[in-house]
Amino acid sequence: MSAKVHVLVTHRVIEGGLDVLRSHYDVHVADGLTRGELKEAIAGVDALLPLLTVRVDEEILQRAHRLRVIANHAVGYDNVDLEAASRRGIWVTNTPDVLTEATADLTWACILAVVRRVVEGDSMTRAGRFEGWVPTLLLGTELRDKTLGVVGFGKIGRAVARRAAGFGVRVIYHDPGLAEGPVDLGLLTAESAPLDRLLAESDVVSLHTPLTPETRHLIDARRLAQMKPTAYLVNTSRGPVVDEAALVEHLRAGRLAGAALDVYEREPALTPGLAQLPSVVLLPHIGSATRETRLAMARLAADNIHAVLQGRDPITPVNRPVS
Ligand code: GLV
Repeated sequence: MSAKVHVLVTHRVIEGGLDVLRSHYDVHVADGLTRGELKEAIAGVDALLPLLTVRVDEEILQRAHRLRVIANHAVGYDNVDLEAASRRGIWVTNTPDVLTEATADLTWACILAVVRRVVEGDSMTRAGRFEGWVPTLLLGTELRDKTLGVVGFGKIGRAVARRAAGFGVRVIYHDPGLAEGPVDLGLLTAESAPLDRLLAESDVVSLHTPLTPETRHLIDARRLAQMKPTAYLVNTSRGPVVDEAALVEHLRAGRLAGAALDVYEREPALTPGLAQLPSVVLLPHIGSATRETRLAMARLAADNIHAVLQGRDPITPVNRPVS
């Protein structure tokens, strides 16, 4: 094994994002690693920069004899076994804050697209089926004076809520990790609500929880049934928070007006039936996909690696390794 310090980046990231690493270490950027290739390579690696699609679990970590840091290129880190990493003295970091505004913008793009049937309109126009202005064509739902229910009121949930002021939308939130009560967001105040009430009162429900054992299938058939048949579900968090088969059922039966999804339960596979529903907007997990944000994410992941390899604590750790 060479004395060089080896950094493995599992996929290509935005140009310029890894400059700090390239000037200090031996950096290998793979063009998408298979799990077998990662298992093989990990033994010689000091720092790993994986995407959220790369599962870094016990089976990988037991071979990671010299690994010191896993710098996830994402704010979510449900792909990494934190306990197994901590036990082995390995730091795990994420990329919070830098993607908050981009993800909140994309969430509003989803909300507007689904309530105003933007994708249906685009498809119709491209297909040459726009035959002139009609008073009843593609009628959607007005947002003013409606209620947005935000599930998970961390940084992204709040940034989504803040934008509601511009549309005259009332906001309620549910977050079991926070004390209940109103949250002043400047242009509006969000009131807390138990999940049952939030689902029953909201015209749009937007999900912003991390994926944990508690939030897996948080929105299942029972929860969907609590929503108004005129309401919309928006998910830009993690796919498995929603039971997608139940969602398809509800949409098909007209028990929900529509849904906009940027994430999927078995990503990138789509649950059968989803793509055939005209009332859903489907995006390919692009919540943080702006040039500015993706550069900031790559740089933050690189800075976290550099800090650890220089013997400092990382900037945005999500665990505390046992030393
Ligand atoms: C994207 O989904 C992220 O967690 O950064």
